[in-house]
Amino acid sequence: MDMGTLPAALDPASLEGLTAEQLLRTVTGHFGSRFAISTSFQRDGMVIIDLALRIDPATRIFTLDTGRLPEETFAVMEAVRSRYGARVELVYPDAAEVEAMTTLFGPNLFRESVAQRKLCCQVRKVRPMERKMAEFEAHAVGLRREQSGERAATPKAQFVEGKWKFAPIADWTSEQVEEYLAKNGVPRHPLESQGYPSIGCAPCTRPITAGESERAGRWWWEQDGGKECGLHVTPEGRMKRELDVLLEEVLAARR
Ligand code: ADX
Ligand code: SF4
Repeated sequence: MDMGTLPAALDPASLEGLTAEQLLRTVTGHFGSRFAISTSFQRDGMVIIDLALRIDPATRIFTLDTGRLPEETFAVMEAVRSRYGARVELVYPDAAEVEAMTTLFGPNLFRESVAQRKLCCQVRKVRPMERKMAEFEAHAVGLRREQSGERAATPKAQFVEGKWKFAPIADWTSEQVEEYLAKNGVPRHPLESQGYPSIGCAPCTRPITAGESERAGRWWWEQDGGKECGLHVTPEGRMKRELDVLLEEVLAARR
């Protein structure tokens, strides 16, 4: 495996042993402007923004504006801009791709099938992410192991598709996140207090009810979509999942 430009001393096993603050100090120091926080302004991402900007106020922050985000997400973005004096880089999907997709399948194609939902995520999130990542060697995300079974083995550092991906709070519990945010007076996403522990695009996110898992409100109508948009799977995993989904569609159509 090509380990990019990370010094040998900073191998994933060593980074695994660091606290979130230590890890962010290490990677902001090493990568500078070739490092960014990729965030959707949920509580996990807000912890990372707060920690990183204390270490280096010039840390770059970007977000994928899918075109279907809830209004409240823009309110947190504005709160980050004013509270930290930070610049948030907004990344948009390719207009021609969105136009072709919605003209062909309709604006709410994600309700039709898992394959069409994943196509929408591919066009509105995954492809813009890949394009934006050309500017960076490394990025940090707010994934936590506790969030779901799919995320239970998330490493704090991994080299994916030629880039470093860090999950500084991978081992934090929900309680630790809450404690950090309260203690430091960090801006909160308005939907969190309305029963949304996980927030993505408006039409694909609903509040959860008592006893449901953190991500139960994401793509809730799907029985077998994996509750992932494709930002957080390996190329092999992504390919396999897409092929599986398409195959299921083809087989279903023959019945
Ligand atoms: S998702 O893959 O299902 O959308 P989730 O909402 O749990 O993921 O967020 C996990 C992490 O993915 C976030 O902490 C953030 O780092 C990244 N992420 C998710 N959505 C976006 C977005 N719109 N823009 C930038 N990063 C995002
Ligand atoms: Fe499209 Fe929904 Fe995915 Fe957003 S979460 S990109 S609206 S399918």
